[in-house]
Amino acid sequence: MSADEISNPMYDIAEPLASSMVESLRSFGYNIQTAIADLVDNSISAGAKNVWLNFCWDGADSHISIRDDGQGMTEAQLIVAMRPGSQSPLMIREVKDLGRFGLGLKTASFSQCRRLTVASRSENHDVVTRRWDLDYINQVDEWRLLHSPAEGSAEKLNGLECINHGTIVLWECLDRVVGETKHNDQKAQDDFLETVEIVENHLAMVFHRFLEKRDYLKIWIGQHRIEPWNPFLPDAQTTQSLPVELLFFKGEVVTVRPYILPHHSKITQETHNIASGVNGWNAQQGFYVYRNERLLVAGDWLSLGYHKEEHYKLARIQVDLPNSMDSDWNIDVKKSRARPPVSLKAELKRIARLTRHRAAEIYRHRGKVLARENADKYVFPWDRKLRRGNVFYAVNQEHPLVEEVLNFPAIYQPTIRALLRLLEETVPVQQIWIDNSTEPEKQTQPFDGTPSEEVMEVMIQIYHALRKSGMTEEQARDRILTMEPFQHFEVLTQNLSD
Ligand SMILES: Nc1ncnc2c1ncn2[C@@H]1O[C@H](COP(=O)(O)OP(=O)(O)OP(=O)(O)O)[C@@H](O)[C@H]1O
Ligand SMILES: [Mg+2]
Repeated sequence: MSADEISNPMYDIAEPLASSMVESLRSFGYNIQTAIADLVDNSISAGAKNVWLNFCWDGADSHISIRDDGQGMTEAQLIVAMRPGSQSPLMIREVKDLGRFGLGLKTASFSQCRRLTVASRSENHDVVTRRWDLDYINQVDEWRLLHSPAEGSAEKLNGLECINHGTIVLWECLDRVVGETKHNDQKAQDDFLETVEIVENHLAMVFHRFLEKRDYLKIWIGQHRIEPWNPFLPDAQTTQSLPVELLFFKGEVVTVRPYILPHHSKITQETHNIASGVNGWNAQQGFYVYRNERLLVAGDWLSLGYHKEEHYKLARIQVDLPNSMDSDWNIDVKKSRARPPVSLKAELKRIARLTRHRAAEIYRHRGKVLARENADKYVFPWDRKLRRGNVFYAVNQEHPLVEEVLNFPAIYQPTIRALLRLLEETVPVQQIWIDNSTEPEKQTQPFDGTPSEEVMEVMIQIYHALRKSGMTEEQARDRILTMEPFQHFEVLTQNLSD
């Protein structure tokens, strides 16, 4: 602004309209589990040792409450806390604070319900209560924060009398969770109960590092205490940890700990099932980004150019960030996104590549062990040979698929043999060598990024060839695991049958 504009400002006040703004605040893209996690963040930041969740089914009148024994709020603090944008995202936060935007309490709650009531009690103070009611705001078109619970709702806020300090957040009118359902709608009730399980699994994962510490944090659903879910299987002795790497960024440190989880033959079926996590083994591979020990991203290759693939599913990499890097990592209000700053991408990519390679090695190694156990050779489609003292790459004529083709009727033989010979004579060795040395990161593994169905198409042909040669179904499946590159696709081989 020029000096003239400052001394003689011309402006209109264009405040957001309460009624439309409050509806927009509902659309930050939360689901119920990310919304509840956002409230648990607040409880942890307030120093809570216990968080009690209560899901109460009553058709359209169902409610959900989250109570904690954190430090609570005075009346003045509660009014500030209820204000959307209660603190600037630019403010420096305490090192352990899980908040950033001054929005979570409101945006998470409104994403699920139309009525948010908060009661709180700080040490030596009485309980204070405030309520946002979206229907009322719509009606009056003003940001009127009500002083009391809705009629008939006071008893849902019980539970602060028995503790010296704490907070209870009550969600009613759960239009996004239960809608207009009747109390006796069994299907809706089952869905509601399923939601509870989804929330439990999510909290067990997101807050596992808090839940694992002794006497630190307990989260309860009714009488049931949530157990932590640790993505790295620290109790399995066969989890491999690769060297810890410290990446320096703007005078702070990002700590990266890559892990290779054990092959399923090394752990019990139960451990294997638990470790598969909420989204399954394949989806849970990749980086796990934690901010102040709170998990933001659970298994993602962070747009570094890698895809989730079967043979890398044992790779999980822990990344720890302090909350001072929030804007550099593009953290969102829901705390479910983190994007690395450009200057860290190359290092993260290097670590990802190394970890993926080591994860794939587990299957390669398995293939070799299987080959040894069964007195089979480890089969490659290509052979490296010496011809007149020079290196020459030949198609392996003992590969079952090649053998199968070479057994086609005699009429096709000249063409097949000519084709194989042509391919062998023209392997673009020079070009591969140049590409590999100039852009090593663009070199991919076999079937990298290929949909499972396409891998299956190739595998099925080999399977049929092996079956024709007299192998049983199981022998054929095992044999395929000793063939490059199918040792990486062990799970897919299990689908092979006549
Ligand atoms: N359970 C609680 N106990 C004590 N204080 C709380 C509680 N929940 C919220 N607050 C207070 O309300 C404020 C606003 O919470 P809100 O979740 O809206 O924003 P935030 O946590 O500051 O940032 P973010 O938007 O990133 O979550 C918090 O900063 C905190 O001071
Ligand atoms: Mg918050």
